[in-house]
Amino acid sequence: MTTSPAHVEPRHGPPGPDGAYAARLVDVRVHLGGHDVLRQVDLTLDRACLTALTGPNGAGKSTLIEVLAGVRPPTAGRTEVRARSVAFVPQRAAVPDRLPVTVHDVVTMGAWGETGPWRRIGREGRSRVEEAMEVLDLGPLSRRSFATLSGGERQRALLAQGLARGADLLLVDEPTTGLDTRNAAHICEAVAREVARGVCVVCVSHDPDVIARADRVVRLEEGRVVADHGGPHLECGPRSDLR
Ligand SMILES: Nc1ncnc2c1ncn2[C@@H]1O[C@H](COP(=O)(O)OP(=O)(O)OP(=O)(O)O)[C@@H](O)[C@H]1O
Ligand SMILES: [Mg+2]
Repeated sequence: MTTSPAHVEPRHGPPGPDGAYAARLVDVRVHLGGHDVLRQVDLTLDRACLTALTGPNGAGKSTLIEVLAGVRPPTAGRTEVRARSVAFVPQRAAVPDRLPVTVHDVVTMGAWGETGPWRRIGREGRSRVEEAMEVLDLGPLSRRSFATLSGGERQRALLAQGLARGADLLLVDEPTTGLDTRNAAHICEAVAREVARGVCVVCVSHDPDVIARADRVVRLEEGRVVADHGGPHLECGPRSDLR
């Protein structure tokens, strides 16, 4: 994994002509280490919708989001991505401790999609960077060396990098795990803003606050979707059993 996990190029053509789905998995299977970690997964993800992906440890949540991000090819089945750009914030981003970059640099890397590495980004990109810094309360850390941040501070900076991408499909894996209440609330707010501007957000989470805010909650167990509440054409169901 590089220092800019948010950079994932879309693998499919231009967006659909209408407000149709942002991404879809069709009969996806992933075989790893001698067994199927995902099986018969069919999932259609709409724009302007926050989907929480939940389920026990080892259920296949990270694998599913990696398939959506295009960083893990499925063994069988297919992905269809209509989003023009995709941002992926993985569960554990491996960032070298000695990397000589500031927090502001790391967030700015999120906007490189429009220019290429180390090129000056345009006004729109700069404003996305500043907005992401603000919504995640990173102003006070802006000039700090990324290597000196705590785990929770890094998490916020890497999510800000994902936001700065300005993608219309945002994939985040356990962004609030290990964060204190205040910082977890910043992340929930940031995600809600993305959804309000039409972004399709998929958020792997065990966090009851994230699940409570989600438009849709999909639960995986042993590589299969076992519950899907509040999907595009469904009434929201009870969520207390979905953590
Ligand atoms: N490279 C790999 N080789 C073999 N098995 C793997 C590999 N990557 C993941 N797995 C297995 O696939 C299963 C699903 O892993 P995954 O990371 O998707 O789970 P998860 O639902 O995200 O769990 P957690 O809540 O702990 O993050 C696990 O049993 C894991 O051990
Ligand atoms: Mg995981």
